[in-house]
Amino acid sequence: METVEKEDEENDFYKNAENYWAEIPATVQGMLGGFGHISRVDIQGSKQFLKHLFQLKKPPGKTYACDCGAGIGRITKYLLSNIFDKVDLVEQNSNFLDQAKEYLGPTVLSKIGEFNPCGLQNFSPEPNRYDIIWCQWVLGHLTEEDLIYFIQKCSESLRENGVIIIKENVTSSGAVEDDEKDSSVTRPFSMYMDIFKKANVNCFKKIKQTSFPKELYPVYMFALRKIT
Ligand SMILES: C[S@@+](CC[C@H](N)C(=O)[O-])C[C@H]1O[C@@H](n2cnc3c(N)ncnc32)[C@H](O)[C@@H]1O
Repeated sequence: METVEKEDEENDFYKNAENYWAEIPATVQGMLGGFGHISRVDIQGSKQFLKHLFQLKKPPGKTYACDCGAGIGRITKYLLSNIFDKVDLVEQNSNFLDQAKEYLGPTVLSKIGEFNPCGLQNFSPEPNRYDIIWCQWVLGHLTEEDLIYFIQKCSESLRENGVIIIKENVTSSGAVEDDEKDSSVTRPFSMYMDIFKKANVNCFKKIKQTSFPKELYPVYMFALRKIT
């Protein structure tokens, strides 16, 4: 494909997602596409996954986390702020970040470092900043090239023993499935493995989320560290 044509297509991909999310209510139901009731089970599964990581010989620290594609801060509120001293939120929709300031409440708010209104394709975290970078239900909004680069940049931004956690839907068909409505893709498990290799990170732990409704895509949690 011609370079200009490819750029136009990528711009449309991001613009269409922005337009989609601009129409979505800034609520947990909105964040979870009407599946707000799975939030509890989701957070429980994530807590367990983090627990395993803290039992490693070289566990991540508990100082600073980053919530990528944070929406209104559901994961920050119920998971990250209970464990880490400080949390940054990165989210392309600034309306959701404004709502987060109310939704999180004063106690959690006091632990927030930055509300960063930024698309992950443009996110350049400082080196050596985070113990955990949490990315959930957002990476299907990045092109493959941007996703590889994003993971690379995140891996440079980890502190000693830090971990990137990706929690995403994967297809059962083994193929990439497009969603034109919200301008995203759902990738198969094997493609994530390939992307991790290209980003030079080691996926040292992966677990499938249990107890989700059958009609949803399978959801996996991946723990990644830079290959040194
Ligand atoms: C399905 S919601 C998930 C929100 C949150 N991670 C959660 O699990 O509650 C997807 C979020 O990703 C955000 N998003 C979409 N494209 C993005 C991008 N390119 N960069 C950053 N955030 C993006 C949307 O605005 C929305 O808040």
